[in-house]
Amino acid sequence: MGCAASASSSASAPSDATQPKIRNNENPAVEEKVCIVGSGNWGSAVARICGQNTTADVKFNSTVNMWVFEEVVEEKKLSEIINTTHENVKYLPGVTLPSNVVAVPDLAEAVKGATILVFVLPHQFLPKILPTVKENLAPGAKAISLIKGIDFDDHGLVLISNVIREGLGIDVSVLMGANVANDVAKDEFCESTIGYGIRANGVLFQQLFHRSSFQVNIIEDVAGVELCGALKNVVAVGAGFCDGLDLGSNTKAAIMRIGLSEMKIFCDKLYSGVKPDTFFESCGMADLITTCYGGRNRKCAEAFARSNGERSWEMIEEELLGGQKLQGTLTANEVHKVLLRKGLLQEFPLFTKIYAISFEGAPVGSICHLNTSESSDLVVTTL
Ligand SMILES: NC(=O)c1ccc[n+]([C@@H]2O[C@H](COP(=O)([O-])OP(=O)(O)OC[C@H]3O[C@@H](n4cnc5c(N)ncnc54)[C@H](O)[C@@H]3O)[C@@H](O)[C@H]2O)c1
Repeated sequence: MGCAASASSSASAPSDATQPKIRNNENPAVEEKVCIVGSGNWGSAVARICGQNTTADVKFNSTVNMWVFEEVVEEKKLSEIINTTHENVKYLPGVTLPSNVVAVPDLAEAVKGATILVFVLPHQFLPKILPTVKENLAPGAKAISLIKGIDFDDHGLVLISNVIREGLGIDVSVLMGANVANDVAKDEFCESTIGYGIRANGVLFQQLFHRSSFQVNIIEDVAGVELCGALKNVVAVGAGFCDGLDLGSNTKAAIMRIGLSEMKIFCDKLYSGVKPDTFFESCGMADLITTCYGGRNRKCAEAFARSNGERSWEMIEEELLGGQKLQGTLTANEVHKVLLRKGLLQEFPLFTKIYAISFEGAPVGSICHLNTSESSDLVVTTL
């Protein structure tokens, strides 16, 4: 069991409901019905939270559909395993899901009637599934994205929440934070941040996710929350390089500070309206810390550094992540394209260095050769 503290997060944060809920059988139409679109490591952990909260709060229909990209695990369909054992044995082994979380392998069936869509899958799979979601969209549906990543098109940077908003024509909030799925699933105390555009939806999503061990704060800053969630994965790759080089905590702290600074400059240059306070929420500083010490991006980057760049990212991902997807290198690549196009590479020495090490054969040790001092009078000697 984890430790559950009571933090002063946002006003009106709901507490875990302990009373049995009274169903509104006369007017079930007022109920919000939840579908989790995705069932990986984080998808399964949040399905557990949503399943617990929907049984306790009358405004939600108890049943939570969880769309499962079907695969065969030890000769059985994963969706059938989940529905009989209440465990996602592949992506969140050892954790029992509430029985009201129902795995549905057919996407159209999973989203039918859902007024709340929780998108939580690696972003590369999103374009393929959105048309089916749109065809089956319920009236009044709204979405929240838990996806950490960014996209890129001919005009530049595209937020994943925008891809969903434009693909479905509905309001989209985001939830990001220092939330390593396995620890959240053990009810270890942590915080998370919801960025909303429409306050009523932000409040509704807070009620869906908030628990005493998962304190959810809400702020009106979709782009800021989302960009923090995506960009910290790039910094985590740099932190993993430090670990692979057996460097101590001073260097990692420097990489994290420079990384946070570049995250903020990136937001300021590419997005108007990102709030400075967002960087002090769970989605900012806290997520950066947890990702640079734990998490899959750091782990894979450490392995890359230890192999001296001889093992490809694909090999490392397959070997270390057991079907999970590496996000940090994908985002580093997308960020690099944006910076290159805008002529901004020089203003982002860390992001540029992480890209060069990851994809251009630069030595891993060059992560330490950064000149981030603002004084132009300094003579810089390289180690
Ligand atoms: N795991 C965490 O601790 C964590 C925490 C916060 C946010 N996130 C973010 O949540 C998002 C989802 O991550 P996750 O950890 O739940 O996933 P994951 O990496 O554990 O699992 C991969 C998922 O992709 C699915 N998949 C594989 N091939 C597919 C295809 N062709 N089409 C559709 N789906 C396919 C798999 O079935 C599986 O559900 C990511 O953006 C991640 O950055 C993860």
